[in-house]
Amino acid sequence: MAANPAKDKKIGIVGSGLIGRSWCMLFASVGYQVSVYDSDPRQVSSALADIQQQLQELSASGLLRGSLTAEEQCQRVSAAKDMEDCVQGAKFVQECVPEVLDIKKEIFAKLDDLAGDNTILSSSTSSMVPSLFTRGIKKRAHAIVCHPTNPPYYCPLVEVVPSPWTDPEVLEQTVALMREIGQSPVIIKKEIDGFALNRIQYAIMGECWRLINDGVISVEDMDKVMSDGLGMRYAFLGPLETAYLNADGFHVYAERYGEMFLRIQKSFGEPIPMSGSSLDRIHNELNKVTPVENISSRRQWRDRRLAALAKLKSDMDTKDSK
Ligand SMILES: NC(=O)c1ccc[n+]([C@@H]2O[C@H](COP(=O)([O-])OP(=O)(O)OC[C@H]3O[C@@H](n4cnc5c(N)ncnc54)[C@H](O)[C@@H]3O)[C@@H](O)[C@H]2O)c1
Repeated sequence: MAANPAKDKKIGIVGSGLIGRSWCMLFASVGYQVSVYDSDPRQVSSALADIQQQLQELSASGLLRGSLTAEEQCQRVSAAKDMEDCVQGAKFVQECVPEVLDIKKEIFAKLDDLAGDNTILSSSTSSMVPSLFTRGIKKRAHAIVCHPTNPPYYCPLVEVVPSPWTDPEVLEQTVALMREIGQSPVIIKKEIDGFALNRIQYAIMGECWRLINDGVISVEDMDKVMSDGLGMRYAFLGPLETAYLNADGFHVYAERYGEMFLRIQKSFGEPIPMSGSSLDRIHNELNKVTPVENISSRRQWRDRRLAALAKLKSDMDTKDSK
């Protein structure tokens, strides 16, 4: 990257909660001018203060992204007067409002009126397919989803989801932009509820729920199956390549484990609702380890580990490429 990658191009962020703040930092890290709007002005003030603090801490711990200083990155993020001010002249707008379909529809209708003809209109939605809230808008060919992984600064995956009417060039430009800001985009080729990440996450969580509900394993041990077992490999290898390496290729894997793969999947059964005594048991066991009032310090603990893991992965990638 150039010593000073300052750009005069503008990015609009609508919604300055947890995810909006992260997008601000990611775009500023490569020099974009970021304009952030929220219907609650106190949220924007708190976001700007939070971004400044986070950038300083990242800089102090050597984890700041990009080549600009924390102060230079901070100066690139500013509060918009209103939504028009936020999106005017922006090459890309990222919507980060709550996961409620009517709010997404309202915001995309406004963006349709306010944004320029070539502006890409992107949503952070975690599960809603873009056709649900872009069907009726004039600029629907420019609308797309970029679903980040929380916390986006350390988990680079972004699911890029076009609707059936998204212009293929918009998809291409969006993928390129995600790469430019250091994220790792994957394309969801067909609209599907929950995309790939949340479908996989809920398949895992559903089975955890069943095993605990059926008294097979404790909450603590269930989490360990992932954190000390599967998760160790999944931090750098997907489940498909993991299996491929566990045998001599997939045909051998299928020969050895194909019957078990099918037999166990057939035993999964109907999904179990998150309610009743299982819900209380799981909550109470986790609450013994981290009382709800201490959750924010445990989140900081998580982020320190994720930061260290992200650094390890980047150092190993650099070493492997030499
Ligand atoms: N939190 C996560 O782990 C996560 C991960 C990936 C994607 N997402 C998605 O990102 C989106 C935002 O989630 P979040 O966790 O940042 O929520 P949040 O509640 O932290 O922030 C939402 C912000 O939107 C603002 N807002 C509400 N209505 C608005 C409007 N009409 N116009 C402008 N601003 C408005 C709120 O004031 C708030 O600041 C959701 O769609 C969510 O599903 C969240």
